[in-house]
Amino acid sequence: MSDIKYQITNNNLTSEEETKLQYEYIEKAKIKVNEYAALIGHKPTCCVTTFGCQMNARDSEKLAGILELTGFELIDSEHADFVIYNTCTVRDNANQRVYGRLGYLHNLKKKNPNMKIALCGCMMQEDTVITKLKKSYSFVNLIFGTHNIYKFAELLVRMFESERMIIDIWDGTDRIVEDLPVERKYPFKSGINIMFGCNNFCSYCIVPYVRGRERSRNPEDIIKEIENLVKDGVVEVMLLGQNVNSYGKNLEKPISFAELLRRIEKIDGLKRIRFMTSHPKDLSDELIEVMRDSKKICRHLHLPVQSGSTRILKEMNRRYTKEDYLNLVDKIRKNIPDISLTTDIIVGFPGETKEDVDETIDVIKKAGYDNAFTFIYSKRTGTPAAAMANQVPEEEVKYNFNRVLEEVQNIAHERAGRLVGQVEEVLIEELNEQDETLITGKLSNSTTVHLKGGKELIGSIIKVKLTECKGFYYFGEIVE
Ligand code: SAH
Ligand code: SF4
Ligand code: F3S
Repeated sequence: MSDIKYQITNNNLTSEEETKLQYEYIEKAKIKVNEYAALIGHKPTCCVTTFGCQMNARDSEKLAGILELTGFELIDSEHADFVIYNTCTVRDNANQRVYGRLGYLHNLKKKNPNMKIALCGCMMQEDTVITKLKKSYSFVNLIFGTHNIYKFAELLVRMFESERMIIDIWDGTDRIVEDLPVERKYPFKSGINIMFGCNNFCSYCIVPYVRGRERSRNPEDIIKEIENLVKDGVVEVMLLGQNVNSYGKNLEKPISFAELLRRIEKIDGLKRIRFMTSHPKDLSDELIEVMRDSKKICRHLHLPVQSGSTRILKEMNRRYTKEDYLNLVDKIRKNIPDISLTTDIIVGFPGETKEDVDETIDVIKKAGYDNAFTFIYSKRTGTPAAAMANQVPEEEVKYNFNRVLEEVQNIAHERAGRLVGQVEEVLIEELNEQDETLITGKLSNSTTVHLKGGKELIGSIIKVKLTECKGFYYFGEIVE
């Protein structure tokens, strides 16, 4: 029998009532965590590990919010009483990492039998994964998916009440449950989900299957969340969605992503706005105008191209051609000359020839990316591309991958350093890991800058003269 239940909720509550119910479960979970603390003889520690993208990381912050409230001490080490893996399945190597690390956790649990282990996230939405976990990883205590993460407090209570593995995976949800606790990793910046799921069904991609259909949050809820974050010290937000350019289309009162940005721009005290990811097919002229005229939207656009070959793009179901993409880049550069562009590229999609890869390299040259994430195509069971007959031999993929990587590095090197001598605003994010006399921050265009300074500057935006460029980083000096 499948563990994926064809359900979108397990009750008839409204979203507001569900929030209230979950706060009741938080109270119940506090009692359970207290009992657990008495059993192990100390305040229980907990470690949440993120394997996936920024949306996965934001989900981890939601888990951490509940864990903190219910009485866990959050730590970074997996030598914790409770370890949660928030998994990703976008490429097979993400899955393999989880299985590998689970072996390590099993050893820890043998030494500490009271230890609890939970798995959640995108990988758990796959039937084959659940079958494997049930068969060979029976030491895991709790498994849940992407659609019922808002029920984490309730699931925690169930985990503490049961000796057996708890599995709760849903096939989808139409719900967005607001106002649950969140524990942010950084005090001064935060990710914000503006939408969930994806409707694009790019033929190689598993995300629509594991994250469900596209659902946008109400603009009022998003604005309220950001206003509260700003009151709490946040100066930079990253608006998150698999395809932010189609935000708001399916709302009862439809609104465009550009309009949402206009409203967010008006929030007093908010200094920087970022967003990802933009799908080229939905990037509107209105959005380019809003970006051009904005004081707060950062000068960075992540615009995944995936391939430069119109034939492959069609097979990928991306719904733009090489020319469409390059025209779009031209339009963006004309309107926002100081923008930094980054992209994602897949090498080795079924049927891809050397000539197709030449087209990709041509796009890399013409678009002038500051950085590009290059991935080897990974076959994802259940996607249309996995069933395509003409999978490319590994040797050929490696050869092409190296060619693409070389071009990405060439172009990024050419572009690096173009701001030397200029004074730019830097949001200071942390002490430098290698040298404690240095602090590290980010430019509006996302480039990293190192400079002399103390930790009291973390979270502030300061003017910095960029004096030198090493590799892809700048060194700078504070300007009085
Ligand atoms: N929604 C985003 C991407 C999310 S996944 C977008 O459409 O831009 C992040 C990246 O992973 C994708 O841009 C793609 O380059 C890569 N990716 C997705 N599925 C993949 C697969 N099967 N094999 C290799 N890379 C893949
Ligand atoms: Fe995947 Fe395409 Fe959706 Fe991005 S837009 S998440 S690549 S299906
Ligand atoms: Fe991975 Fe899920 Fe994000 S598959 S990339 S964690 S949406």
